[in-house]
Amino acid sequence: MPTLIWDLPTRLFHWLLAALVAFSWWSHEDHLDWHKVSGCAIAGLLVFRLWWGIAGSSTARFAGFLKGPAGIAAYLRGGAAGAPGHNPLGGWSVAAMLLVLIAQVGLGLFAINEDFEGGPLTRYVDYDTGLAIAQWHGTLFNVLVGLIVLHLLAIGFYAARRKNLVGPMITGNGALAEGVEAPVMAPLWRLLVGLVLGGATFGILYWLNGQASAF
Ligand code: HEM
Ligand code: HEM
Repeated sequence: MPTLIWDLPTRLFHWLLAALVAFSWWSHEDHLDWHKVSGCAIAGLLVFRLWWGIAGSSTARFAGFLKGPAGIAAYLRGGAAGAPGHNPLGGWSVAAMLLVLIAQVGLGLFAINEDFEGGPLTRYVDYDTGLAIAQWHGTLFNVLVGLIVLHLLAIGFYAARRKNLVGPMITGNGALAEGVEAPVMAPLWRLLVGLVLGGATFGILYWLNGQASAF
């Protein structure tokens, strides 16, 4: 029976994130102003996702999908199947993507280039440090691309085995194995707290971004 696996906030988070990461890549060279605004929006999304990973619906919670070695081994042996949401391997790849995205955005906030165009927090580092951070920002981007390629390959792998992961990430609905409990959806007030946290992060960074650079 189709059951709600991914709540709307998690799905919106995912597709907005994918679109903005693609946009950040496209805009980094010739549209740095847009690149920075897009990056500030990704920062807001990530703060929302961290909150949702602690207080959101059960399939969005880190504690629900980050399993230890025993859980991973059981999954690989084919046991413990059927729990809705990320499987134990997918869970860690999600965590890796989120961590690299946090680092990518964190570095971008302090990055500066030879034209003295920098992120909203460059005023807190000296020029040479900002330049070095921009280099790291560029290098880490390759790691992020690697993880995204793996992400898409994994989805293709499951599709080839007739397991459609993309449909549920669009509609929210997926099949639930017999005897497995349906996910518990978070109440509206928690969503509102997350929206305030993510919105405030974006607002503050966007405002700082509009201030004159220290250089
Ligand atoms: C996931 C989010 C982001 C992605 C994928 C991304 C990607 C990139 C890439 C690929 C570059 C080129 C690096 C190079 O040429 O070596 C770049 C440069 C840069 N990014 Fe980001 N970035 C992101 C977030 C941010 C954020 C949040 C900010 C600041 C608000 C930011 C500010 C900058 C700046 C100032 C540069 C230097 C431009 C230059 O070297 O000319 N980025 N970014
Ligand atoms: C820049 C590109 C992308 C990034 C950074 C990204 C990142 C992520 C993240 C962080 C999650 C975890 C969602 C959560 O729990 O909050 C996820 C899940 C997922 N993504 Fe993506 N994604 C990207 C592109 C795509 C594309 C193009 C597709 C479709 C072809 C896709 C399909 C999925 C699916 C199906 C899941 C759920 C996997 C599962 O069932 O465990 N993603 N992605």
